[in-house]
Amino acid sequence: MALKLTPTRRRTLVFPLSLFSLLFLLYSLSFNSFRLTSRSPDPSPPLVRHTAPCNYSEGKWVLDPDPIKPRYDQSCKEIYKGWNCIANAKSNGQDLLRWRWQPSGCDLPLADPVSFLERYRNTNIGFVGDSLNRNMYLSLVCMLKRASSEVKKWRPAGADRGLTFVRYNLTLAYHRTYLLVRFGSWSATSDSGALESLGYKQGYRIDVDVPDQKWAEAPKFHHILVFNTGHWWWAPSKFDPVQSPMLFFQNGVPVIPPLTPPLGMDLALKHMLRYIENLVGPDKFLFFRTQSPRHFEGGDWNAGGSCWRDQPLSIDEVGELFSVERNGTNVESRLVNQHLFEALKGSRFHILDITSMSVFRADAHPSTTGGKKHEDCMHWCLPGLPDIWNDLFVATLETLQIK
Ligand SMILES: *[C@@H]1O[C@H](CO)[C@@H](O)[C@H](O)[C@H]1NC(C)=O
Ligand SMILES: *[C@@H]1O[C@H](CO)[C@@H](O)[C@H](O)[C@H]1NC(C)=O
Ligand SMILES: *[C@@H]1O[C@H](CO)[C@@H](O)[C@H](O)[C@H]1NC(C)=O
Repeated sequence: MALKLTPTRRRTLVFPLSLFSLLFLLYSLSFNSFRLTSRSPDPSPPLVRHTAPCNYSEGKWVLDPDPIKPRYDQSCKEIYKGWNCIANAKSNGQDLLRWRWQPSGCDLPLADPVSFLERYRNTNIGFVGDSLNRNMYLSLVCMLKRASSEVKKWRPAGADRGLTFVRYNLTLAYHRTYLLVRFGSWSATSDSGALESLGYKQGYRIDVDVPDQKWAEAPKFHHILVFNTGHWWWAPSKFDPVQSPMLFFQNGVPVIPPLTPPLGMDLALKHMLRYIENLVGPDKFLFFRTQSPRHFEGGDWNAGGSCWRDQPLSIDEVGELFSVERNGTNVESRLVNQHLFEALKGSRFHILDITSMSVFRADAHPSTTGGKKHEDCMHWCLPGLPDIWNDLFVATLETLQIK
């Protein structure tokens, strides 16, 4: 049926019609490109195959009947004494090597040290963060040293420790920093500053916009960086809310009204991510590691808490131990992650989600064999879980085709 249109009516119809066809065109284009990327190159016969990138963080722990061939053992000299669970005769120290992380949709390959050394020739890789990033750094060092033991130790760009695999010119370093930003003790002066007039006598001055010198130069030196910050923001034993509160400064002056630690963390992350992104070009690869969970049961670390288990937790046990609603002892890891994910949204950082696999591993901490007055239910045995974090790191580097 032909519609007779006057010139004016025709003009008013043309626009909605062409908008409709444009939308249709866009729809078919996106549909086609979806088909192109989500189908295997050979369209027939249709294969049941996981074509979306595998989510390595979703899975479960399975006990391998045969002990996995260890990638390194207790003889690696780099292992910090308190984390060497096999040497310290932790009862399940050897069993830790038998637990394999099985992602739901694929396998997580074991990092191959020789091909890693080859692939990352002439590359500098920096770990920046607290002792849990040192845990991860040492695991990678031990794995690689097994394949190439000729190393030169040095401290690049303010690092706490570092070494170069001489035959490959590959440098690894660990930069120690608790909060990423600079902090130091603060006490009231006689001038009536803003904090003094609010009654503050002492505490810690935390400059949310000033990077800690330990790593400020690291992004220029390293090609690949793995950052973390976490439990220090929730550490009332150091940053006691009354005796020694965190006092946040921005542009050199106190933030008034004073912020709670979580809000201070948000501000520090915002400034530090911006600092890093402004400092480095697109040839650098940035990772942020999610929070490493603790497993204190029956009390916090300084209140008799312990981690006595010799098997990973069940999913229900994880629910209880980490419930935000039930104020579980170890709830901090979920809170830290909420702040991290929010800060990292839209940034250049790739997220290395180790939390999902690690929450199960109440069995993998040094516990009473850590050699401290309190049980260590925070760091991890080496060899152990951080080796799997590095498998995830290496697999992610390959997925992203970095190098
Ligand atoms: C991957 O799995 C983890 C754990 O279940 C989940 O938290 C995360 O959102 C998933 N990531 C994506 C991109 O789906
Ligand atoms: C070693 O690697 C660095 C980059 O990290 C590069 O600048 C340097 O030229 C390399 N040295 C040799 C001898 O290839
Ligand atoms: C949560 O538990 C901690 C100690 O583990 C306690 O200091 C705090 O007051 C509790 N918070 C709530 C809301 O119950």
